[in-house]
Amino acid sequence: MPTAPTTRLELDDIQSGVLRPRPSPYAASYVVLRIDDARHGREAMRRLTDVVTPAAAAASTDRDTFVSIALSHQGLKALGVPQASLDSFAWEFRQGMAARAAALNDVGESAPEHWEKPFGTSEVHLVLVGVAPDEARLEAAIARGRRSLAELPGVVPVWRQDCRAPPDHKEPFGFRDGISHPAIEGSGIPGDNPHDMPLKPGELVLGYEDELGGIAPTPEPALLGRNGTYVVFRKLHQRVAEFRRYLRQNAKGAADEELLAAKMMGRWRSGAPLALCPLHDNPELGADDRRNNAFLYRADDAVGYKTPPGSHVRRCNPRDAAVAGVVRLHRMVRRGTAYGPLLPEGVLDDDGADRGLMFAFVGAHLKRQFEFVQSEWINGGDFLGLGDAQDPVAGAAARDGSFSIPRKPIPRRVNGLAPFVVTRGGEYCFMPSLRGLRWLSELGSRAG
Ligand code: HEM
Repeated sequence: MPTAPTTRLELDDIQSGVLRPRPSPYAASYVVLRIDDARHGREAMRRLTDVVTPAAAAASTDRDTFVSIALSHQGLKALGVPQASLDSFAWEFRQGMAARAAALNDVGESAPEHWEKPFGTSEVHLVLVGVAPDEARLEAAIARGRRSLAELPGVVPVWRQDCRAPPDHKEPFGFRDGISHPAIEGSGIPGDNPHDMPLKPGELVLGYEDELGGIAPTPEPALLGRNGTYVVFRKLHQRVAEFRRYLRQNAKGAADEELLAAKMMGRWRSGAPLALCPLHDNPELGADDRRNNAFLYRADDAVGYKTPPGSHVRRCNPRDAAVAGVVRLHRMVRRGTAYGPLLPEGVLDDDGADRGLMFAFVGAHLKRQFEFVQSEWINGGDFLGLGDAQDPVAGAAARDGSFSIPRKPIPRRVNGLAPFVVTRGGEYCFMPSLRGLRWLSELGSRAG
């Protein structure tokens, strides 16, 4: 039987930051800029087009070091993008992240009025992300970006966050991160779960067929929209000492602490999935990228005796488990990086340092991908058959949250979950294609 032709993504037009997995280890910097002068902003776009690496970059050109750029709706406006084009972007993007606070559960301490400035204001226009295998190459990449802005006082840096991903890939709570990513048809990047069919390219990049069998509305003109995608940046502060104290207070001894932590995450700290080693950690499996994501849930763990349905990874990607809805419509590419100093092993008191995750989502559908997972799977339980229980790791739990661990003869239940993660800011952005960047840089000349 003939097979359907595979769509090829136009990798020479798509920014590297959309597709390319990060090097290991790596350093990253997020720089936010405000565009005060449209002419300077457009000139910056022109110069940055030469700095941004396309996803097709040959391995020989040090493709592990790259700069990506993304613009908020306010940023597109500040460049002088015509209203008809501005109106053609996704509604959630046009609103901006702060306006979506209720839907995202950014309430209480996570509410926009407590965010680091300029987040939550109309001054977050351009986000420049530099990624490299080490600090020296990162600084060189950022310097290239900075040189592009020389003598353009109308483009003003207003915020910067440096991140360092350690070689063991551990995020501040101590779990290995960055393991599970969806495979994307036509991207040339192999998937990490052999049981998972690649997603249609329109799930990740605008202008291609998606899982619904059509091409989603793409921002206009096509020169701007096609090969672009949406990016969500969120600075998530992690209360590591509080998380550790919670484990200590709710577990019976050190081994049980590790088990409780693994049940909350769905993986041991080494990255080994409970699905494949439910009773003991297996660091060798955790480190083996060919095996550590090769599993499903339905056949041998429908109830969740191994991986609780309420655990972070099973909520965020229930794979083939029975949940309301179609899981493939809610997948996402994550490109987050830890920031801040690690809290030394064993310390249970908060040292006041700021540490956490610069969370980055990349995908073509803000609402049914990022917003759905954040609001329905992380901060709700209805779609998962879990009532109103929230994610025990990343949920915005009020102080009385609880978490249920299926067990025979009766489930284990832990109460008193606290919000271990606090949103410190973020924005919805659009990452244009290289052609889109050129289109933006030529805006003034077309008008005049
Ligand atoms: C500070 C907050 C967070 C921490 C510490 C955290 C940590 C982790 C860790 C350690 C993993 C397992 C490694 C892996 O599968 O790659 C993971 C997986 C995942 N997380 Fe998070 N995460 C956080 C927030 C979020 C948020 C806000 C979302 C989405 C809105 C999210 C979505 C996911 C997804 C989709 C997976 C992969 C699940 C799978 O495919 O099995 N995470 N996270």
